[in-house]
Amino acid sequence: MTSAEAASRKYDEIADRYEEMFFYVADLGQRLVSLADPAPGARVLDIGAGRGAVARAALARDCTVTAIDASPRMIKRLTADYPAIDGHVMDAAALDFPDASFELVTAGFVVQILADPAHALGETHRVLTPGGTVALSLETQSIGRLQWLHDLTLEFFGGPGGAETRPAGSGPLDCDRLDGLLAGAGFTAVTREPVAFPISMATPSALWDWLTPRGLTEAVQLLPPDRAQAFHQRFLVGAQTMESNGTITLDFGATLHRATKPG
Ligand SMILES: C[S@@+](CC[C@H](N)C(=O)[O-])C[C@H]1O[C@@H](n2cnc3c(N)ncnc32)[C@H](O)[C@@H]1O
Repeated sequence: MTSAEAASRKYDEIADRYEEMFFYVADLGQRLVSLADPAPGARVLDIGAGRGAVARAALARDCTVTAIDASPRMIKRLTADYPAIDGHVMDAAALDFPDASFELVTAGFVVQILADPAHALGETHRVLTPGGTVALSLETQSIGRLQWLHDLTLEFFGGPGGAETRPAGSGPLDCDRLDGLLAGAGFTAVTREPVAFPISMATPSALWDWLTPRGLTEAVQLLPPDRAQAFHQRFLVGAQTMESNGTITLDFGATLHRATKPG
């Protein structure tokens, strides 16, 4: 299965509630477009557009917006919500546009989930006009006060594993590696801007409810029932301890990356 096929399945399932689950993407989409600062009328391609967090911010600046996504459901919802956006089901790895078609290419929280981000950045470079801009966001989550949860998941689900067998430079996409890939794809004037957005949970159960649709359910379902129950109990104790020491806060953040295709 290609990364686009896998994404299409995963994101089709959550398309209808995507921006409720990930409520912060709307704000981050606006910030990304502000950083790119396209002129009115600029041709903008938003890759992995989802429900349009970035694309609608470009539309609001009177840009001509094309949006692509591997998930048909995302594109269906996006084009129904924003008929002025030209939406297509398409793989970021094979952009069906001529060279030099866009003044700005954006991708909000997409490059880190692509199987081959270097290839997609090559495609991005190809479809940009000389002097054009690419603007990307990358999610950065520090363990911070959730060290107890990190330790608990290691205990129940095992370590991440495999890091030592990965080819050099092929680990999870972090800010430095992304900037390196941008430079490798031929971009210059690579800059980045960190954005912090801590997310607070009202109760231990709210933290559980937040995490379950984000992969925790699948992981817990793989455990024998008694281990699954033990994990849930230990999770709630850990979250209660966190609550009694202050607040239950997730240290989410992002980096906004901008670069230029030389003219
Ligand atoms: C985390 S969501 C981000 C959505 C939106 N950009 C935002 O900021 O809210 C990632 C999106 O990328 C899409 N995607 C994943 N892999 C893709 C690929 N290979 N080609 C095109 N889109 C892809 C997913 O379907 C999903 O809509």
